[in-house]
This record gives sequence, structure tokens and C-alpha cells, in this order.
Amino acid sequence: MVDHYDRSVVASLPEQLAELEAAASVCVRCPLSEGRTQVVFGVGRPDADLLFVGEGPGREEDLAGEPFVGRSGKLLDRLMAEEIGIDRSQCYIANVVKCRPPDNRDPRPEEIASCRPYLDRQIALLQPSVIITLGNFATRLLLETGDGIKKLRGHVYPYGSAQLVPTYHPAAALRSGAPVVAEMRADFVRAKRLLPGAVGR
Ligand code: URA
Repeated sequence: MVDHYDRSVVASLPEQLAELEAAASVCVRCPLSEGRTQVVFGVGRPDADLLFVGEGPGREEDLAGEPFVGRSGKLLDRLMAEEIGIDRSQCYIANVVKCRPPDNRDPRPEEIASCRPYLDRQIALLQPSVIITLGNFATRLLLETGDGIKKLRGHVYPYGSAQLVPTYHPAAALRSGAPVVAEMRADFVRAKRLLPGAVGR
């Protein structure tokens, strides 16, 4: 018999995501919590087919409480519009770590490990068909490899029931210029073709 008082049975997907976000918002599992303005949990639609996973919030994201709102985010928005034909309200965007590393340093292995349950649960709830990992941190974490993005991109990898498409971090594309942006565009097109309803496009 279904216990109607068991919230794990009756809570809707948006409710479960909101509960996870509420738990994350007071997280003190690692020292990154000490320097944050707020936790940057993620943004987008709970029924998204496409999930982007970045590295971690920067200064602007820490202030805004939303991933990819700075320069990298502008490039991400542009590429998703031009190559996939969507805006950020039609997908979901999350990061490996939910709190800003000080001075934009790389997240440390123990910080990534502390934060991982939040990303794992986001993926389990969202059940995206396609995951685009942006840069080394997200790609290495989810593919459990030490290989670099340059080697890993250009291919599609299984990730549970999803397909994972690794690409460069937009900040790397901003630093490196047109050839890297062109490869990101190709990766986004690759991801688009994997999305439900893409057959024949
Ligand atoms: N870089 C990231 O990896 N994530 C953000 O949210 C912003 C910049």
C-alpha cells in the first residue's frame, strides 16, 4: 500500500529538486561554504532533455546565484542558441561544485568529492538524455578518467541512460579563440543530433 505521507513517494520532480536545492543552500560539507555569497545550485527546467555541467561558480555567479551569467555564460548562451536552437530556460545548467572557489582557483579533489552527491542527485532526478560536460573538471568527474578534454572531445560516451558529449569550457574558448569555438560548435551539433526528436534533422 502506498503511504501517502511518505514525501519521497508523493513529491513531484520540481518539489524533489527544490528540496535538494534547499539542502544544498545550507551545506557546510567543505570549506568553500565559508567564502560563498550563496550556493549556486543550478538553473533550468526539471524535465530538460539536455543538461550542461560546468566547473564551479565564478564571482558573478556567486553574486547572482545562477550558473554561467558572466562572460563564459554569454558564450554558452550564444552557442546553445546558434547550434542547438534553445535558450537556457529549455535545458538545465549545473556545476561540479556549487560554491565559488576563492580567487577562481580550481576546485580541489576533496571539495569535488564533498559536492558530488548534489550533482549525482540532480542527474538522477533530471534524467537527461544528453549531458554536455564543459571542460576538464566535469568531463573527468563523470567519465572517471584522468584524460584531458582535448583527447576526450569529439566522441559520445554512455553515462547511465544518458549520452555524454564532452566539450571545452567556454572560458577556454574565450582564451584560445576561433578554432576552439569551432570545435565547441561541432560538439553542440553532435549533442543536438542525440536529443529526442532530432531524427531526420
Ligand atoms: N564557469 C563555470 O564552470 N561555471 C559557472 O557557473 C560559471 C563559470
